Amino acid sequence: MGNSTSSDPADLERLRALVEDALRGPVDALIAERGELQRFGEALRYPIGAGGKRLRPVLLLATVEALGGSLAAGLPAACSLELVHTFSLVHDDLPALDDDSLRRGLPTAHVAYGEDVAILVGDGLLALAFRVIAEGAATTAEVRLALVHELATATDGMVRGQYLDLHPIAEPDEAWVRRMCSLKTGCLLEAAIAMGLHVVGADDAVTAAYRELGAEIGVAFQIVDDVLDATSTSEELGKTAGADEINDRQSWVRVLGLAEAQARAEESWQRSLVLLDALPGEPTALRAVVETIYRRTS
Ligand code: IPE
Ligand code: IPE
Ligand code: MG
Ligand code: MG
Ligand code: MG
Repeated sequence: MGNSTSSDPADLERLRALVEDALRGPVDALIAERGELQRFGEALRYPIGAGGKRLRPVLLLATVEALGGSLAAGLPAACSLELVHTFSLVHDDLPALDDDSLRRGLPTAHVAYGEDVAILVGDGLLALAFRVIAEGAATTAEVRLALVHELATATDGMVRGQYLDLHPIAEPDEAWVRRMCSLKTGCLLEAAIAMGLHVVGADDAVTAAYRELGAEIGVAFQIVDDVLDATSTSEELGKTAGADEINDRQSWVRVLGLAEAQARAEESWQRSLVLLDALPGEPTALRAVVETIYRRTS
């Protein structure tokens, strides 16, 4: 079913290496400006340096590459997305939200540096994200404005989704959980593709086709996350397995049961294959990123 051509993990590694270099180089230089506040600079670096899969920035670069754009022009936007995502994780883990102690294989920011500092780390990462876009020299001012708008809108959506997650309706059904996840998780993944489209200046038809894929994988990302939460180990995930049950969260597994949630992810993968086959451009690396989103084990 769909296109059976298997994707090459080397594509992913190549794009991930670009992101890592940029995070360690230009982005770290911005953080280093906080030299007079040594421990705060260290705390800001901590959740970024802890790693993570970097799937959002890689997705952005893969979109740029698929449409023949310049990866260098896309890198600031890619880093900005990773900064917002990392901010969302630092705050997601806070005692008032998910109260988690393990993230990216290390103690969470508030465990390592205290809750007050972790709140400020999140705030700082969010602000830095927009600076990184604004200072990106390889794109026009018009493109940078579109990128800022896209990222701000997605961040707003993520925050609304987090609110819904923390304050669910009395009897959530599948439609509710889909809406909540399309906000809390889908928005930033959709933005990865949308920001890539802004970097290359894609036309309306191309934009519509790529955005449709973005919406599909955005929700699927959280279905897979919820399934892994229920089936994997903390060692494998680098974060606390079973957190949704501990926190009594309205996850896909809670609302549909494990088998149905897994079936939803598989159905979504099949739809994504069809969407990938129909995309204009050369989405070879993009296919590899999408496959990873469905097949990942951490
Ligand atoms: C975790 O995202 C948060 C969710 C939206 C489910 P990732 O699974 O991409 O986390 P990292 O970036 O690899 O740590
Ligand atoms: C959070 O979802 C998504 C964010 C916006 C950070 P989860 O709470 O399920 O993410 P994890 O499992 O802690 O990474
Ligand atoms: Mg959460
Ligand atoms: Mg969480
Ligand atoms: Mg989770």
